[in-house]
Formats: sequence, C-alpha cells, structure tokens
Amino acid sequence: MGAERILITGANGQIGSELAEALRNRYGQDHIITTDLRAPAHPDAGPWDILDVLNRKAIEEKFRRYRPTQVYHLAAMLSAVAEQKPLAGWNLNMNSLLSILQASVDLGISKVFWPSSIGAFGPTTPKDQTPQITIMDPTTVYGISKKAGEGWCQYYFGKYGLDVRSIRYPGLISYKTKPGGGTTDYAIAIFHAAKYEQHYTSFLRADTELPMMYMPDAIRGTLQLMDAPAEGLRIRSSYNFAGVSFTPAGLADAIRKFIPEFRIDYKPDFRQAIADSWPHSIDDSFAREDWGWQAGYDLDRMTADMLAHI
Ligand code: NAD
Ligand code: SER
Repeated sequence: MGAERILITGANGQIGSELAEALRNRYGQDHIITTDLRAPAHPDAGPWDILDVLNRKAIEEKFRRYRPTQVYHLAAMLSAVAEQKPLAGWNLNMNSLLSILQASVDLGISKVFWPSSIGAFGPTTPKDQTPQITIMDPTTVYGISKKAGEGWCQYYFGKYGLDVRSIRYPGLISYKTKPGGGTTDYAIAIFHAAKYEQHYTSFLRADTELPMMYMPDAIRGTLQLMDAPAEGLRIRSSYNFAGVSFTPAGLADAIRKFIPEFRIDYKPDFRQAIADSWPHSIDDSFAREDWGWQAGYDLDRMTADMLAHI
C-alpha cells in the first residue's frame, strides 16, 4: 500500500478535499499530491502543487515529476455553472479528460479515476430505478461532456488497456467545503439556512426528486471501486451509484424533526429544467454485484450528521 503515489486534480473542491484526507489516512501524507489552480486551504496537510488541467504539457511535466501510480481527475465545471458558459464547460470537462487519459498512457500511469454523473442521463431516460445500460440523451453541456467522457474512458480501456474506473455520482452532500455550482447544491445550502436562519428559499420545486448521497458514502464507495480486482469490473464507461433519493419537501420534513420551526418556500430558477431532465432514483446493481457497493446513510441519518457538523 505504501508504494502508491496518488495525484489528484481539482483537489481543492468539494470531493477532492475529502478524498485527499481519506487517501492520506490510508497511504500516508507524503504519498498523496493534491493539485488545483490555487494553493489548498490547508497547505500543511501534505504535498501540493499548482496544475491547470487545460495545460497538457504541465500535466505531463507533473506526471514525470511525481511519477504517480494512480491519478484521480476531479477538475471540472459543474452543471449549473457550465450552463452559464457552455463552451468553457465543454473545453474544461472534455479536453482535460483527454489530456489526462493520453498522458496516463504515454507515461505509464497504471490506474485512473474520473467521475461521471447522473447528469449523463436525459429527459427520455427511464426516471425511476434508472438502469445501468439505458437511453442517455443529456440536454446540458455538463451532461453531454459526461456522456462523451464515459465513452472515452471505455475507449482508452479497450484500445490501450488503461485501467480507468468511473462512477456516476449522484448529488453529493457535505459540510466540509462549499459545493462547486451544481444543480443539487440546494441540498447543502438548505442545511446552513435551516441551522442559522430557520428559513430557506429553494431554487427547485417542492416535488423535484433527485438521487443524492452523503459524502462519507461517496468516498467509501470510490475507494472500494479503486480497490476492486480489475477482472471483476464489467463496466468501463461509468458505474451507476445510488445513495438516497428525496425531494426538497422531503428534506425539509427531515430537517423539521430537528428544527421544528424551519420553514421553506420555493422559487424555481433555470436549474429546475436541469433537474427535470435527470433521474429520480438509480439502479446500482452492477456496482453491488461487481465491487460490493452498499450505501450506509439514509435521509434521517444524513440529516442528523449534517446538522450536527455545519
Ligand atoms: P468542485 O467544483 O467543488 O471542484 C472542482 C475543482 O476543480 C475546484 O477546486 C477548481 O478550482 C478546480 N478547477 C477548475 N478548473 C481547473 C483547471 N483548469 N485546472 C485545475 N483545476 C481546476 O467540484 P466537485 O464537486 O469536487 O466535483 C469533482 C468531480 O466530481 C467533477 O468531475 C464533477 O463533475 C464530479 N461530480 C460531482 C458531483 C457533486 O455533487 N459534487 C456529482 C457528480 C459528479
Ligand atoms: N451535483 C452535480 C451537479 O449538480 C451532479 O453532477 O452538477
């Protein structure tokens, strides 16, 4: 285990900051190199460097310098922000992935992780218990980039044997860092508002059901997939991955069990159309069968933990 050297891109973000901590606990502080556009919030936590993933030469240079055995490529633009600047979103999400995949082949990186999303599905995808293999017709630039990215991961595995692994994350809920501009971010903002203002105005309608997951589950599942023997992995595009599904109204009810005076109202904005194009719930039976995935947090347990920590 100690021989692993892991480089993370976009490591200062919502997932990267918690994933880096988990990987450092497991492999040792000096074995994890976090990179991003800026210095991390806690620069003493371990080795870090500046890496703009749009600079292909800089990626190669960092791979040569740090000789990582694994790369987690997390830098990306999330759904709501990408709808505001579609070409920049496509450029970042797509070209950085292609650079990471090609540099990994050229420089002999043995394992790559890249996250896809429920955003890769679209309006005609079956919405309830969305199957692993199904219609994918995303209508957002974010979803188009994730669907294409899944195709490229599968291609690099098939053509070059690159051990690239991927998960279609649902909306991730956490309290340690700010979320990065996603459609599911209401489910984080609501906790801060409930605890400190006892009131929240949701940018999604009351009945908008979306697949979500608490961050500790997401980190545990990611490491589980990366640990799994390669020969057992049937999916090289991206695995469906389910936690818990709920609506803004359902989440507000769960919060009221702890803060009875909490009130919510609804002013849907452009993010409603994005959410309406996504699934309600996910069938993750491939992840369960191939690498033993099972979610640990339900809505009430997650709500209690979030309110205790924010
Ligand atoms: P985030 O927005 O919180 O973090 C992204 C990080 O990338 C930021 O720290 C940002 O500074 C960095 N970055 C942006 N442009 C960069 C560049 N040119 N070079 C280097 N770094 C750059 O995102 P996140 O929530 O941590 O998501 C990470 C990955 O997981 C993304 O691929 C995202 O699509 C995927 N994902 C996230 C969620 C979620 O709910 N958070 C759900 C599904 C998929
Ligand atoms: N949480 C992400 C978003 O809303 C889903 O990929 O963009």
